[in-house]
Amino acid sequence: MKKTAVIIGASGLVGGYLFEYFSKSIDVVGTTFKKDPANFETLDMRNEENVTKFFADHKPNIVFLPAAMTHVDRCETEPNESYSINVSGTKNIVECAARTGAKLVFFSTEYVFDGVSGPYSETDSPNPINIYGKHKMEAEKIVRGSATDSIIIRTTWVFGWEKLARNFAHATYNKLKAGEESRVPMDEISTPTYSKNMVAAIDYLLGKDFEGTVNIAGTDRLSKYEWAQRIANAFGLGDSKEKIKPLESDSLGRPAKRPKNAGLLTGKLKSLGFEPCSLDEALFDMKTALVGKDLELKREYWNPRKD
Ligand SMILES: NC(=O)c1ccc[n+]([C@@H]2O[C@H](COP(=O)([O-])OP(=O)(O)OC[C@H]3O[C@@H](n4cnc5c(N)ncnc54)[C@H](OP(=O)(O)O)[C@@H]3O)[C@@H](O)[C@H]2O)c1
Repeated sequence: MKKTAVIIGASGLVGGYLFEYFSKSIDVVGTTFKKDPANFETLDMRNEENVTKFFADHKPNIVFLPAAMTHVDRCETEPNESYSINVSGTKNIVECAARTGAKLVFFSTEYVFDGVSGPYSETDSPNPINIYGKHKMEAEKIVRGSATDSIIIRTTWVFGWEKLARNFAHATYNKLKAGEESRVPMDEISTPTYSKNMVAAIDYLLGKDFEGTVNIAGTDRLSKYEWAQRIANAFGLGDSKEKIKPLESDSLGRPAKRPKNAGLLTGKLKSLGFEPCSLDEALFDMKTALVGKDLELKREYWNPRKD
């Protein structure tokens, strides 16, 4: 029997790539909270009754849960809102997945770590330094404590072409192309993760019936400042490099602290047989997708629902 997957948060960056990839092989129903009701079913994961009805309507075998309140500074200034989405909302989905016997793929973050001595493996002890990280750690505990089969994916700095161009690589490309200045921290270090490579890794892990916690990240560990320079090089925007201004993370005066010396190790993923791609391979793939095409067109094209 053909499997049915639901993607809670298909209108987001990760959810959009999951939708594009998995709808090629299985029946997939995606949800949005507010931004894309034209393409996805609207669902507020905080609403237990609606979540229960959604599961009864679709009877999924697989539940992808990328939905979250991901604005780290808003989580810090609106902790109750963050808790209600990132913890209580996750609990609602986890309970329904457990009741219906669906496999759950939950998305967590390197922000469960303090960024003192990264990069981190799956066995390192979490010690979050902001509300977002604390709530994602609580959500992880709910997933682990549930009876449902689950994969907890920890990832970081996810990038790729995106309809709303919010991720760092896409936004930096747009800024440099437009000749605008890009002010970026030189003291935040991590391992950028190519969205397309991440969904391929997830498909691989599902095929292996993997259960447990696993890091999915790219192979390069670098600062945001260096990352911006690599983006400029990859897209032939080297002349715009002087527009990339390094600064210290703390000088941005953001409400939430960031883990600085961070990044995720992918030894476990590799030992399972999946090789994550390098930053150059990922940027080359993004560039290939642009060649001979107008970026505006491409933004539409990445979304399979509009093909
Ligand atoms: N992007 C990264 O660099 C990164 C790094 C580490 C970990 N992660 C984790 O990966 C996951 C996906 O991240 P992302 O970047 O794809 O996030 P995103 O682009 O901000 O998307 C978030 C999704 O959650 C939905 N959502 C928000 N509030 C909701 C609610 N109350 N009920 C139901 N859905 C709700 C949004 O719907 P609308 O679009 O309608 O608002 C959207 O589809 C998150 O769990 C995040 O913690 C991401």
